Amino acid sequence: MSDAAAWDARYDHGGFTFGATPNRYLESLTPRLRPGMRALALADGEGRNGVWLAKQGCVVTSVDWSEVGLEKARALAAEQGVAMETVVADLTQWDWPRGSLDLIAWIYLHMPSAERAIVAARAVEALAPGGLLALECFCPAQQGRRSGGPRDPDLLPDEAWLRHAFAELELLECLTGTVLLDEGPKHQGQAEVVRGLFRRR
Ligand SMILES: C[S@@+](CC[C@H](N)C(=O)[O-])C[C@H]1O[C@@H](n2cnc3c(N)ncnc32)[C@H](O)[C@@H]1O
Repeated sequence: MSDAAAWDARYDHGGFTFGATPNRYLESLTPRLRPGMRALALADGEGRNGVWLAKQGCVVTSVDWSEVGLEKARALAAEQGVAMETVVADLTQWDWPRGSLDLIAWIYLHMPSAERAIVAARAVEALAPGGLLALECFCPAQQGRRSGGPRDPDLLPDEAWLRHAFAELELLECLTGTVLLDEGPKHQGQAEVVRGLFRRR
């Protein structure tokens, strides 16, 4: 089974694996959002973050390699009365936009380090001047905890990786710490995360 097929299988149920409400870090960035911002919800899964951004007035593209996830994302958008473009694609192969995005939301996209570096480089190139990249992921200290996230340590970025991968961007904040997750059945409890907010100069 390919990784995309594995995610299809994980999403093939009636509920929302990571909830239907946005990630709290992304939500905390509300004061920085403006209607009409061109936003990319990276690896948007069942669409909770993309749909929320669309509700804030952003023009959203939601990309994930899981067709099942994005079908649920489209249903969530319709239920909440917002429009959102959805694209089924592998982010390492996708034909990324260049220099045009005002916001990229990278929320719990965990990839092998070599692929993560490719996606980070594409994301940097995709931002318009002044565009923001917001990231929250589990970090290496999350290994072995039951509140969520992958087991393979190569999938867990740390703060040093963020600072290096997005060095071309202005660093607005970047930190590692413990949060209390309450995001659907698969993100529950105390978790070790890394968060970052970067801006294209
Ligand atoms: C932990 S889920 C997070 C989903 C969503 N961002 C959220 O916070 O609810 C990780 C997502 O990454 C997607 N994903 C992983 N690798 C990908 C790739 N190479 N291309 C596209 N999507 C990918 C999976 O399909 C899955 O939906």
